[in-house]
Amino acid sequence: MALGDTGGVSSSPLVRVAFPAPAPFGSGQPSGGVALLTIDRPAALNAISFGLIAELVAALRVLDADPACRCVVLTGAGSRAFAAGADIRELAGQTPESLAAGQGFERWDELREIGLPIVAAVRGYALGGGCELAMACDLIVAGEDAQFGQPEIKLGVIPGAGGTQRLTRAIGKARAMELILTGRSIGARDAEAVGLVSLVVPAEETLDRALELAGRIAAMPPLAVRAAKAMVNRAAEIALTEGLAAERQAFFDLFATADQTEGMAAFTEKRTPTWQGR
Ligand code: CAA
Repeated sequence: MALGDTGGVSSSPLVRVAFPAPAPFGSGQPSGGVALLTIDRPAALNAISFGLIAELVAALRVLDADPACRCVVLTGAGSRAFAAGADIRELAGQTPESLAAGQGFERWDELREIGLPIVAAVRGYALGGGCELAMACDLIVAGEDAQFGQPEIKLGVIPGAGGTQRLTRAIGKARAMELILTGRSIGARDAEAVGLVSLVVPAEETLDRALELAGRIAAMPPLAVRAAKAMVNRAAEIALTEGLAAERQAFFDLFATADQTEGMAAFTEKRTPTWQGR
């Protein structure tokens, strides 16, 4: 589905896709180009089944290929949970062989292929796979009622969708080790203090504030936004020398774009730039 041919809203069983209407510039409301994805299993606290993650990745791939979409907000239905983890009922009967043979965890890896920036809007529980999903996004806006944690140890397992790696990179070994080995969760303010979230906001305002932030990102030149996202994420993966070289190349490459010409011309001419995304 492309942004232009949905009639504004489309739905699927586990993940809803919507496109908040554009608001006038400077209104503080989300601008055009923002898609809202909602995990829609509130009765199970938005637990992430294999089907759900597949649907989510499929929706993100469609949006990623649509030049009209500039930023995504991902949230959970209801106020109790962003997502309370991978679906424990579905995991309970698995074996090493069935997990390896299934493609459920490959879908999680595919989240990394999305070039669009993704803002997680988190209220309530973001536990286990829910915390991992939030961390796989590029920014986290947390309501004051948000709870983050990796409780898998209490189930006899460990985080399996990136938690040991992303949490450690986000908050450091000492804090990550304590949370992962005890399964303790932390509130939004503590998550902000340790650098896990970008912004903490009053609970009721979480989605609006995330949409507003996404609207500001969506108003930026899209090629530069994608390059910036890719480079920041690479910082978690490669050595500094390699990362600096990659950043330099990405910076140079942007000088072949119309948006670079426009952005610098608009600055010189003291006017607002118009981005073409090329
Ligand atoms: N999977 C499946 N169902 C879940 C779920 C999950 N992760 N989390 C909650 N639910 C379901 C419950 O089973 C319950 O369903 P029923 O009404 O049909 O019984 C419903 O959601 C509401 O949950 P609770 O009654 O438990 O609500 P609560 O307020 O008493 O407790 C909670 C909330 C503390 C979050 C509790 O639900 C809980 O501990 N959930 C599991 C958290 C967890 O361990 N997450 C890690 C999962 S494993 C994982 O994520 C692996 C990985 O890394 C990929």
